[in-house]
Amino acid sequence: MAKSPDKAPTAAPRATSNRSTTPVSDAFKEYISRDWADRPTVIPAPREQAGFAAARRLALSRHFPGKRLIIPAGAAKVRSNDTDYAYRAHSAFAHLTGWGSDTVAGSILVLEPTPNGHEATLYFRRPAGRGTDEFYANPEIGEFWIGPRPSLSHVAADLGLATSDLSAFVDVVDTVDGNTLLLRDGDRDVTDSIDGRRLLAADTESLETDGDADLARDLSEMRLVKDGYEIEQMRRAVAATKLAFDDVINDLPAIVAHERGERLVEGTFNRRARAEGNTVGYDTIAASGPHACILHWTRNDGPVVPGDLILLDAGIELDSLYTADITRTLPVNGTFTEVQRRVYEAVREAADAAFAIVKPGIRFREIHAEAMKVIAAKTAEWGLLPVSASESLEPEHQYHRRYMVHGTSHHLGIDVHDCAQARRELYLDGIVDAGMVFTIEPGLYFQPDDLTVPEEYRGIGVRIEDNILVTESGAENLSIDIPRTADDVEAWLAGR
Ligand code: GLY
Ligand code: MN
Ligand code: MN
Repeated sequence: MAKSPDKAPTAAPRATSNRSTTPVSDAFKEYISRDWADRPTVIPAPREQAGFAAARRLALSRHFPGKRLIIPAGAAKVRSNDTDYAYRAHSAFAHLTGWGSDTVAGSILVLEPTPNGHEATLYFRRPAGRGTDEFYANPEIGEFWIGPRPSLSHVAADLGLATSDLSAFVDVVDTVDGNTLLLRDGDRDVTDSIDGRRLLAADTESLETDGDADLARDLSEMRLVKDGYEIEQMRRAVAATKLAFDDVINDLPAIVAHERGERLVEGTFNRRARAEGNTVGYDTIAASGPHACILHWTRNDGPVVPGDLILLDAGIELDSLYTADITRTLPVNGTFTEVQRRVYEAVREAADAAFAIVKPGIRFREIHAEAMKVIAAKTAEWGLLPVSASESLEPEHQYHRRYMVHGTSHHLGIDVHDCAQARRELYLDGIVDAGMVFTIEPGLYFQPDDLTVPEEYRGIGVRIEDNILVTESGAENLSIDIPRTADDVEAWLAGR
């Protein structure tokens, strides 16, 4: 389980003792522990999302009467020896607490059952204080190294949640029984300690985790329909992402001039992501020329060559952790060739046809089916299929899918592929409802070595991806302000 801040030793916790120069004398320890000014106690007003998070906890509570629910934020993940990846809290934790990019790593939300519902407590590592060696000698969590942590009362007011020091979480672990459900992929150490306790409590060697799976499923399904705060965050994530696409277009001359122009695309986009939000919502795909045919091309180490297309699939994640997921495919020299335009406009037609049917009451899978009608029709029209479009669309054929192997839509929100644990009957086979946010992202990818397509098509990859909000009467394309027709894309490039 998570380590208690009160337990020694807290200094140099990883393999750094061979280069630690931290003084260990009593004189130094005494000297560094004193003569620090008091910090003013500032108790903030609840942040905007606190009320929304409380409503989400209430909804979750109703799903699990009498059950104790444990939702960890997760620990920092090691990237290399003693350096970590940038910390990001688990999405379910962020959803239920409203804590985003400023989450204290290792925090745990516990919903304790009461006769009327649940009582929520947020356990996190409170400030260690300047009398401890953690303060100056612990590069992982010490204030001198990574900055101060907020107080229990600060976070309680900020998030509108009862708070407790993480050291008290041992009492939760000690009383784990068959009524405890855990978000298992939140924090491996927490999972290990809860499972260990469960085995002890049940006096058995086999773990019963079906209840945990129910919890993970419900946490995912609760996010299928977004609340007002989430919809506003999605609008802001898309608006920030538009700025980043504009930046890339403005940087095109420098991008083309560099031998690894794709890296400059990534750098320009990600610069805006750090400036406007937390970071990118997923690794930026900057895929120029035939790299566009590699769906998750994130190595981004190729040149950006005039005459080719560049496919940029990227999204900004805000401090609330909500992310956009947008793709545009641009002619590097500003103008589509005739065949590039033909492919591009076919993909746009597929996207428009899919968007046209979106409204509450349809099935989610119909959106993909609508896009596929266009993809099949176009590839048949160009003579690429061994059968007619209608035959290809039959489930036992699907020849057109050679040129678009991925799906057309996924839910989007605090995870780029949101609601991943939701049941198929509520996701792919589910009914579309107002407040859902998802992508529409058809594409056509003609691999450079695909002998089924004429040479002029080979190496062309096009995807157009928009972020769609379902409204009471239909749908709104949240990313409509980022140019998406071939003519508008050319005008956008000409106007830079
Ligand atoms: N960027 C990954 C996706 O579009 O799903
Ligand atoms: Mn997507
Ligand atoms: Mn994408």
